[in-house]
Amino acid sequence: MSHVPTAMTQDELKQMVAREAIRYVVDDAYIGVGSGSTANFFIDELAGIKGRIKGAVASSVRTAERLRKHSIPVVELTSVDSLPVYIDGADETTAHGAMIKGGGGALTREKIVAAVAAKYVCIIDQSKLVGVLGNFPLPVEVIPMARSHVAHELVKLGGQPELRTGFTTDNGNVILDVEGFRILNPAELEGRINNIVGVVTNGLFAIRGADVILVGTPAGVTTLDAHRFQPGPSR
Ligand code: A5P
Repeated sequence: MSHVPTAMTQDELKQMVAREAIRYVVDDAYIGVGSGSTANFFIDELAGIKGRIKGAVASSVRTAERLRKHSIPVVELTSVDSLPVYIDGADETTAHGAMIKGGGGALTREKIVAAVAAKYVCIIDQSKLVGVLGNFPLPVEVIPMARSHVAHELVKLGGQPELRTGFTTDNGNVILDVEGFRILNPAELEGRINNIVGVVTNGLFAIRGADVILVGTPAGVTTLDAHRFQPGPSR
């Protein structure tokens, strides 16, 4: 009988999904790599098979540094023809693949790399799988001079924005973390917030969400197909 661990730490769960994500790496191609502690575990696993890939596109300066530390070639997004897979963590994820991201502040570059990738594999520990998004404050990247204007508009949408103090994004902008949203229609809210002048992007990843979600649980990794509930085209 196989041994089922009972008390695993959150880091052990993150490491377990990071290891599982290696199965999604496509040989002889570039891979998109996310940011944060779970993505860091993935980078460390990727180092073990780096000979199989051409290199990686990084979603943040810190990710690029960690990839280079492992001697994994890092290339600019502009120099790749295709990106079969993007692998990243999240702060909250629904079973349909909608996510809140940006706890680490790398949301804009993450969203850009994810937009190019053919498949998005989200790697999380079980604490991040939720029914409704919004308990985690929604990060919004903002051009600094638009900070007050954007904050007022976010209040009109029902949120309570707070400036992330002492933090500047890789793109030289600020982050407003917005509490108070109970997000029943993530794609709609993503679009509305992105339409506020001065917003670079927000941490809702729903218009382009995850395709596959790997959830680390003490009983092992659960694989969710984010598209399984969606109705097919009507005939
Ligand atoms: C970075 O900006 C984020 O989008 C991360 O992907 C997210 O915050 C998850 O980070 P952890 O894996 O550290 O929880």
